[in-house]
Amino acid sequence: MATAARPVVIDTDPGVDDALALCLALCSPDLCVEAITTVAGNVPVETATRNALRILDLLRPAPRPVLAQGASEPLKRPLQTACEVHGEDGLGGATALLTPDGRPRYPDPPIGPDRTDAPEVLAEMAERFAARLTIITLGPLTNLALALRGHAPLLRKVGQVVAMGGALRVPGNVTPAAEFNIWVDPEAAAEVLQAGLPLRLVGLDVTHQVRLAARDLPPPGDLVTRFIRDITPQTLAWSEAAEGGGMPLHDPLAVAAAADPTLCAWEELAVRVETRGEFTTGMTVADLRPGRGGRSGATCEVAMAVEAERARRFILERLWRSSS
Ligand code: BDR
Ligand code: CA
Repeated sequence: MATAARPVVIDTDPGVDDALALCLALCSPDLCVEAITTVAGNVPVETATRNALRILDLLRPAPRPVLAQGASEPLKRPLQTACEVHGEDGLGGATALLTPDGRPRYPDPPIGPDRTDAPEVLAEMAERFAARLTIITLGPLTNLALALRGHAPLLRKVGQVVAMGGALRVPGNVTPAAEFNIWVDPEAAAEVLQAGLPLRLVGLDVTHQVRLAARDLPPPGDLVTRFIRDITPQTLAWSEAAEGGGMPLHDPLAVAAAADPTLCAWEELAVRVETRGEFTTGMTVADLRPGRGGRSGATCEVAMAVEAERARRFILERLWRSSS
């Protein structure tokens, strides 16, 4: 007998790899995306919301998830975006593409978000689905931190929170010490890590091992395949120039790990976030010294290893199957 799809809420800042992750979640038979909440990160929140709407218009999932816009800036800092990686439009410049008769290929969505109170939507979903709910965060943790401030007991009852963020044994990607999602809003990340949530971190320790190369892209097919081919070249080129080896599938791996946790090996750790460092703001720190009890007072489980090829195939097979 087929098991029922698991209800998920995705908090996101699309973003090219966020867009891939949303496509992956929306086409995963074992996940049912009940709500998408947007947050400022890779791009300003209004752009993130428009991109989430574009993806919903393209994939037309049934039932259609609630789309709620959230925080427009981090808790205590000005927003720092990553437009150099994801393009000013967050979709690698794809919104400038035209159809043969001169119309935008990915037009601005005709309607706005259903709601503009993402933290409340997170809490409402937690109340409605409780232990059945998985919350997947793919951007800075601002919305979740705001939701926790008013509704911590409800949020502690969800089944799982899977957050793409952090770097424990490897360098950062936006600074030598920090991973982007944590660095943009370290105060929010610190609050989330101290909240007693059933939290799993999927960070650069594993996401840098699971990559998309240009040769992995399928030939042009239907609308979804073309969308993926249209949004990826700029980020692929940026990643090749910066580090080589293709584009890390950061956010898709978080969705994959939510769907199939056996893709990663998890370690319980007491992870803290540096919020005051001159050179280390946004760094995720755990005591990994042998025999120092990094587990005592554990705040989360961290993906410290991944079956990289299995995870890459898991992601690409689901994405390409959705478009065949
Ligand atoms: C994270 O930062 C963003 O640029 C990506 O979308 C991903 O969520 C990786 O550090
Ligand atoms: Ca993201």
